[in-house]
Amino acid sequence: MYRTHTCNDLTASDIGTKVTLSGWVRSRRDHGGLIFIDLRDRYGLTQVVSDPTNSTEVHPTFEQLRSEYVVKVTGVVRARPQGMANPRMHTGEIEVLIDEVEILNESKTPPFAIDSDEPVNEELRLKYRYLDLRRDRLKRNVEVRHKTIKFIRDFLSAENFLEIETPILIKGTPEGSREYMVPSRLHPGTFYVLPQSPQQLKQLSMVAGLDRYFQIARCFRDEDQRGDRQPEFTQLDLEMSFVDEEDVMEVNERLMIALCQALVPEKKLLQAPFPRMSWHEAMSRYGSDKPDIRFGMEMMDGSELFAKSEFKVFSQTVASGGVVKMLKVEGGGARFSRNTIDGFEQIAKTYGAKGLAYVIVEAEGLKSPILKFLGEAEVEALKKELNLKVGDIVFFAADSFEVACTSLGQVRLACADIFELRDPNVFAFLWVVDFPMFEWSKEDQTISAAHHPFCSIKVEDLHLLESEPLKARAKAYDFVLNGVEVGGGSIRIHKPEIQAKIFETLGISAENAQKRFGHMLEAFTYGAPPHGGIAWGLDRLVMIFCNEPNIREVIVFPKDQKARDLMLDAPSELPVEQIREMHIQVIEKDLPSRNA
Ligand code: AMO
Ligand code: AMP
Repeated sequence: MYRTHTCNDLTASDIGTKVTLSGWVRSRRDHGGLIFIDLRDRYGLTQVVSDPTNSTEVHPTFEQLRSEYVVKVTGVVRARPQGMANPRMHTGEIEVLIDEVEILNESKTPPFAIDSDEPVNEELRLKYRYLDLRRDRLKRNVEVRHKTIKFIRDFLSAENFLEIETPILIKGTPEGSREYMVPSRLHPGTFYVLPQSPQQLKQLSMVAGLDRYFQIARCFRDEDQRGDRQPEFTQLDLEMSFVDEEDVMEVNERLMIALCQALVPEKKLLQAPFPRMSWHEAMSRYGSDKPDIRFGMEMMDGSELFAKSEFKVFSQTVASGGVVKMLKVEGGGARFSRNTIDGFEQIAKTYGAKGLAYVIVEAEGLKSPILKFLGEAEVEALKKELNLKVGDIVFFAADSFEVACTSLGQVRLACADIFELRDPNVFAFLWVVDFPMFEWSKEDQTISAAHHPFCSIKVEDLHLLESEPLKARAKAYDFVLNGVEVGGGSIRIHKPEIQAKIFETLGISAENAQKRFGHMLEAFTYGAPPHGGIAWGLDRLVMIFCNEPNIREVIVFPKDQKARDLMLDAPSELPVEQIREMHIQVIEKDLPSRNA
């Protein structure tokens, strides 16, 4: 037997008991006669001792032990000497005096210290992920993730949901990202595609009458990596029949509140029931479709104020249908250096802004690079409308609605970080609703689905489909927590004729729609119930639960920023024969130079 207890079990009530423990050597302390080892396993630490006066056989082996050796020890639990107890450890009252020891495995010196909080280069952590996972931080995150998923499974099972596994080798599903492809050996020249989400399959499950579906679903998207994105990630995917938006939001909100109370009771829910905000309002007030509402600092509209301004950047933007958005930061004028303000302008520009004008209120008057363009009446109106006080700063963005709002919204977040307004102990959830159905791509001059082409349209906006599709709103909702989109979903189209119409609006020809989604269109002709659902980004949610800055920290074996698995060394080349068998040829000129 390898162990009678884990390394976190023994307390004063076990004193006098003979026990066997197995684990890793965390540290060895040689105190002249006695050698102390902290033995570690997943559960905790136990101090074990070799005393040469107790056993002469044990001691030489203890002298050989090094960090991360795997050992099995047997001995008797005893109280630590007076004053030596460690109240911070569950096993801090006791130690085990060892009579038998066996080295189960040796270990090389690890490339970084396991039991230290010292920051370690992330590449190294990813290459030796199995060592990183021995550390407390990741171990704790793995546990939180497990508990989250277990809670969700239990909750939804009790609500009559069926957990259903959908296939990974499927046909392309349009979710807006590039797809991972798998060549078929048996059918030369054809490909499976890995699901960006189980969207179509869960809808087909509703046509099948399964009524309430959920899945802890792995999704694959070949997109550029960021802190909150991975090429493969996990959703809580969910779909329900005979529901409208309210029904879907109700279950999800109830689940989310119960989950937070169970997992992170220390976090303060800012508001429950969760507030609802239209997409337009979220953009207009917070400059984001995933607003962080833990703090105010709302944006204002200055389009009217500057419609006739001498500052042509403003007035011409308004004249051509754009807007002027304003952001007042109380005390920001006194606090921000010139460099900080330049930094904000860079941020705004990254989000498409052409510049970032500002006005600082000083005791002697206003200070601003655009002051010379502003009339006295304009300045007075501005002061009054924004109730400006000495020390304040106002930022301006003049552009199309989306660019002005988004760029200034990012400046808002940067200011909040400086004033530390984003309290990690507060959970501010909200639903963002009334999303536009379609987006216009300036680059390609094309219209595309804002979410995906199966979203249902608001009945009252149906008439806009042909005349002004960009004004049509979807029956869609996003779940937002502290400025992060943790989920999104919609009521679906269940009538083939409306689905066909949406494809037409999207410029997908009937023939093309048939080729790509014929199975959906056909299924809808066999009695599809009204249905809708949502998917949560589980990694993102667990990341916030764990106070982590990126989702790699809550994924056991994540990919790096370049979508590589540094531990497995994937992606990697394959033998030519294996590639040939797949009826694939690698184009030599595309290969990176071997000798470089
Ligand atoms: P959507 O594409 O909005 O919707 O995805 C749902 C949620 O999944 C998370 N997410 C990601 N997390 C990590 N890495 C990624 N690359 C990534 N992409 C998305 C986000 C997001 O809110 N089928 C629809 C859902 C539906 O309509 O029911 C879908 O997948 O938190
Ligand atoms: P300029 O006249 O181009 O030197 O700009 C004067 C100020 O206005 C600078 O601080 C610019 O950053 C700012 N600015 C320029 N274009 C815009 C715009 N579209 N919206 C907001 N500010 C702008």
